[in-house]
Amino acid sequence: MTDLPNVQPDSRTATVLEAPDRMVKVREMFGIDTDMEVPAFSEADERVPDVDPAYVFDPDTTLAILAGFAHNRRVMVQGYHGTGKSSHIEQVAARLKWPCIRINLDAHISRIDLVGRDAIVLRDGHQVTEFREGLLPWALQTPTALVFDEYDAGRPDVMFVIQRVLETEGKLTLLDQNRVIRPNPWFRLFATANTVGLGDTTGLYHGTQQINQGQMDRWNIVVTLNYLPAAIEAQIVLAKSGEYDKPDGKKTVEDMVKVADMTRQGFIAGDISTVMSPRTVISWAQNTLIFNDVGFAFRLSFLNKCDESERPLVAEYYQRVFGKDLPESVVGKA
Ligand SMILES: Nc1ncnc2c1ncn2[C@@H]1O[C@H](COP(=O)(O)OP(=O)(O)O)[C@@H](O)[C@H]1O
Ligand SMILES: [Mg+2]
Repeated sequence: MTDLPNVQPDSRTATVLEAPDRMVKVREMFGIDTDMEVPAFSEADERVPDVDPAYVFDPDTTLAILAGFAHNRRVMVQGYHGTGKSSHIEQVAARLKWPCIRINLDAHISRIDLVGRDAIVLRDGHQVTEFREGLLPWALQTPTALVFDEYDAGRPDVMFVIQRVLETEGKLTLLDQNRVIRPNPWFRLFATANTVGLGDTTGLYHGTQQINQGQMDRWNIVVTLNYLPAAIEAQIVLAKSGEYDKPDGKKTVEDMVKVADMTRQGFIAGDISTVMSPRTVISWAQNTLIFNDVGFAFRLSFLNKCDESERPLVAEYYQRVFGKDLPESVVGKA
């Protein structure tokens, strides 16, 4: 998926195919027990995400996303940080070869970035003012799956614009332009969020806003993705670092997942504020191969990202699972 925001519309190329040109069986492509079929493209352009061959699809989440693609449902994936929300949408799009763009609403995205702005351009040697479409009108007119990431962190002015696109017909009126944009029939809309729009009821997600009920109602499908079972997470790590595919290697990976799970429990309980995502476990495993030292790799992959005051507790998680202390220099003084 391309993380935009600041790409000039002009530099974006047209899609290879204007519409899906085949149907795929979900059972065959995703190994999920269903007769569902989904439209797909047979050729990919550069906005189609790369396939991660080791990706493990959670059936419920995957079916919800596929329903979004097949039936033009607006799908929101909700769940804790690092559980695979964004990558699930991305990997489904990759399999369907559906162009996909992710906009992180957290990243200081403004209304103007989304809608567009007047720009001064040279035309036949004269300076003229010209409207440059933002990401939203541009994406709306193409067969693109647009993902609003960190939806619950969006600024009010941005949410206001998005609300208009969420209306039934999904038309976007560019007021300054006196123009109405109709969505391409293959335009799709997804969102990921840490909360279910009720604001932060857990105290875990400080940047989040309450999403108004009318706005929330316009999402047709909301699916919750929590951490995958430990055995599956270990399987993902193994798939990404084949070096561990032997008995003691597997044990190490399982132990890493145990430590990760303790950080997640600690995070949910409010004991620590940094959580080990599956991504961190993967890089811990890879860094361990580089340094040939699981404790040192733990420091560089995760511990150093934690608040200093929380490091002793995090080091204790490691100690409990691996049965040895991290060296003093690693832990720091409490
Ligand atoms: N089901 C999965 N299969 C394989 N890798 C996964 C899976 N879920 C998460 N990951 C890994 O964890 C990383 C973080 O996932 P991401 O989708 O960014 O989480 P979120 O959007 O929920 O914060 C991904 O880049 C991917 O490498
Ligand atoms: Mg994400």
